Amino acid sequence: MEIMIHCVCNNINTAKVDAAAAQGAERAKDVMRACGTKFNCGQCRVSINERLAQWRALNPALEAAE
Ligand code: FES
Repeated sequence: MEIMIHCVCNNINTAKVDAAAAQGAERAKDVMRACGTKFNCGQCRVSINERLAQWRALNPALEAAE
């Protein structure tokens, strides 16, 4: 898996987005909450949402279990 920084303002990388997704985050703002922060500039919203969609595609069984 390629690790990249999604949110520069809050230093949220792919691993943190994935961890939030595993805890049920469905949207970028859920990831912010899971990381104990909130949007600053908001530039990362699209990137985080894309990674959440990717994560769901990679973990269909986990999503179905909910
Ligand atoms: S890059 Fe995420 S709030 Fe600025």
